[in-house]
Amino acid sequence: MGSWHNHLHQGECLKFVREKLDDLRGLFRLVYIDPPYLSGTSYSLKSRSRGNADMAGAVEDSPTYDDKWKGLDDYLAFMRPRLEVMRELLTENGSLWVHLDWHVSHYVKTLLDDIFGYPNFVNEIVWKRTNSPKAQSRGFGAQHDVILLYADNAQRIQLNPVLRDHDEKSLKPYSYKDEQGRFRLIEIEAQGIQRSEARRQFEWRGRTAPYLYRTKTLDKWWEEGRIYRSKNGRYTKKQYLADTAGVPVSDLWFDIPPVQGGSIEYTGFLTQKPEALLRRVIQSASDPGDIVGDFFAGTGTTAIVAHQLGRRWLLCEEVAATVEIIRSRLQKLDVPAEYSFSSF
Ligand SMILES: C[S@@+](CC[C@H](N)C(=O)[O-])C[C@H]1O[C@@H](n2cnc3c(N)ncnc32)[C@H](O)[C@@H]1O
Repeated sequence: MGSWHNHLHQGECLKFVREKLDDLRGLFRLVYIDPPYLSGTSYSLKSRSRGNADMAGAVEDSPTYDDKWKGLDDYLAFMRPRLEVMRELLTENGSLWVHLDWHVSHYVKTLLDDIFGYPNFVNEIVWKRTNSPKAQSRGFGAQHDVILLYADNAQRIQLNPVLRDHDEKSLKPYSYKDEQGRFRLIEIEAQGIQRSEARRQFEWRGRTAPYLYRTKTLDKWWEEGRIYRSKNGRYTKKQYLADTAGVPVSDLWFDIPPVQGGSIEYTGFLTQKPEALLRRVIQSASDPGDIVGDFFAGTGTTAIVAHQLGRRWLLCEEVAATVEIIRSRLQKLDVPAEYSFSSF
């Protein structure tokens, strides 16, 4: 692993991984894939035409890949061996993230439960991928994708906590202020279901209550000025805004917009994913120096972000036109990425 060289392969991913399995087994802290998903669509690449003055500015469509199948069984027969072999690539603390949508996420989940074992299922993440869903003649407009997260071993997986920036809603509870700054109040007495008869009550600074913390801890917070006493003598803890680096991210990812047509990262590839999405995945599931893989690489967003975050990477993509985009994106980075290339 010490002698790892970043690598871009052009070709079919199962063929590539099977051929290189002895070298690749157990190396990857993170594999993220964004595979075909039974959409029944042929995807193309949009680019502005150059050259002929009459055509300048016109948008050209060049074909890339077909997400068309004989049916569900055909699709799942394609996915199974690829998912199986990808598990073999993971380190003991590694994870596989599979990006899909409503078409097949439930079927692929049962495949993954079978391959990884249900206990190794970690999360189903919902990414809100558009603010303007298409109107439907039946039902509701689809607005989200699903990312299925599996650990090679749920006892060993190591995910880094991820925080997002505060927004208007998350700032609202921080409505109090003292000389140390803005703060919100956190309960230190058992509430609701926690407030059972079995819970021990004790007296602290004139109030008897089912406290959630020991006297020693409460005294420490008192001395630090972190205890708030309400008019009726009830105590709560002050949580200062300055002490919170952000809001812990849950499995609902509503704060990452899709790639916009006019943005710097836009390549003209319809299924391109935003760098901010990959940044969250890679920061959560790996550390600098780790090896990250993407075997349905598209425009190479995974490698772009992996490189920026100091991870090592391997990409596989079978369509020549998208491989060209990957190469050009890697070249345009502030510190252009070094890598080897193969195709078969
Ligand atoms: C949904 S796109 C991935 C988009 C990518 N996440 C991005 O940000 O650009 C899926 C990609 O998988 C590629 N692909 C499909 N089947 C493949 C296979 N068997 N081996 C390698 N690549 C494949 C397609 O050509 C397509 O570029």
